[in-house]
Amino acid sequence: MKRKNGFKNKDILSADQFSRQDLIFLFQKAKLMKKIVRAGKNSKMLQGKIMTALFYEPSSRTFGSFISAMQRLGGGIIPLQGMTYSSVAKGETLEDTIRTFECYSDIIVLRHPEVGSAKKAALASTVPIINAGDGVGEHPTQALLDLFTILGKFKKIDGLKIAFVGDLLNGRTVHSLSKLLAKMGKVEFFFVSPKILRMPEDLKDQLKNRVLITQVEKLDEVIKKVNVLYVTRIQKERFSNLSVYEKIKNFYIVNKKLMEQARKDLILMHPLPRVGEINPDVDNDSRAVYLTEQMSNGLHVRMALLASVLGKIK
Ligand code: CP
Repeated sequence: MKRKNGFKNKDILSADQFSRQDLIFLFQKAKLMKKIVRAGKNSKMLQGKIMTALFYEPSSRTFGSFISAMQRLGGGIIPLQGMTYSSVAKGETLEDTIRTFECYSDIIVLRHPEVGSAKKAALASTVPIINAGDGVGEHPTQALLDLFTILGKFKKIDGLKIAFVGDLLNGRTVHSLSKLLAKMGKVEFFFVSPKILRMPEDLKDQLKNRVLITQVEKLDEVIKKVNVLYVTRIQKERFSNLSVYEKIKNFYIVNKKLMEQARKDLILMHPLPRVGEINPDVDNDSRAVYLTEQMSNGLHVRMALLASVLGKIK
C-alpha cells in the first residue's frame, strides 16, 4: 500500500506529533536508505539542499549522523558545534541565530539545553526545524531510530515488555521513546530508577491510559521478564548538587553476570554515551545492539527523515 509523506515541510519537535502511518512511511524509507548505504551508492537525492546543524550542547551520534545523512544524499552542510565561533558567543538570541541560518539553509537541526527551545526556534523560522534534543525535554529522532531498531528485531510491538533504566527524570530519549511505543502497540513498561530520578509525573499520566506501568528501584526485579532493556546514563550535567550525583552515579551497572539472568531474545539498548552503566564485557553479547544496529540505524532513519521533510521522497 502506498503511503503519503506526512513529513514534508514539517518541523520535527516531539514524538507526540507522529501518527502510526507516519512511522510506517518513515521506516519503509529508512529500509531503502539502509540499502543505499550498504551498497555504497552515491545518492543525489538532496543535491542543492543545505542543512545547518546548530548544536549548543555536545553530541557525537546525533551531530555525526545528521551530517553524514545529508552528505550521503548529496546535500550540503553548515556544521556548528559548541557555538564558540558563532555570534552566539557574543550574546545573540536563539531567534536571531535561527533567522540567520534560515537565509543560508533549507533545514535546521537544533540541539539546545532549554526545554521548548526547538518550538521557540520553529516559531521564528521559515525553514523546518528538527529537534535534536531540547534539554531534559525530548529527542524525537533518537526515539525514531530506537523504535526502528526494536521493530527490526521483534517485527511487532504488541506484547513487548520494556524496561527503561537510569535517569528517567532527565532522560529525553526515554521521554520520546516511551511516547512512540505507547502509540505503536500494547506494551508493558518497567521504569527502573532511583527515587529521585523517576519519570516525570505528567508523562506517566499521559502514558498510563495506554500502557501498564510498573515503577521499581532494583533492576534484578525485572531483568528476567523483559524483551528490551533500555539503559540510560545518570546525567551529571543535570545535577545542581554534584554530591547527590556522586552518590547515585553507579546505581546501575549492567554486566555479563546480570545478562546471564536476562532472556535469550532480549535486546540491550543504550542511546549513548555511556559512562559506566554498561560494562564493556557485555559489548560482544549478541543481544547488545547499542554499538551496532541502534547506532547505524541513526544514519538510515535520519537520511529518511531529511529526505521526507525536504520533500524529496514520495
Ligand atoms: N544518543 C545521543 O543523542 O547521542 P549524542 O549525544 O552523542 O548525540
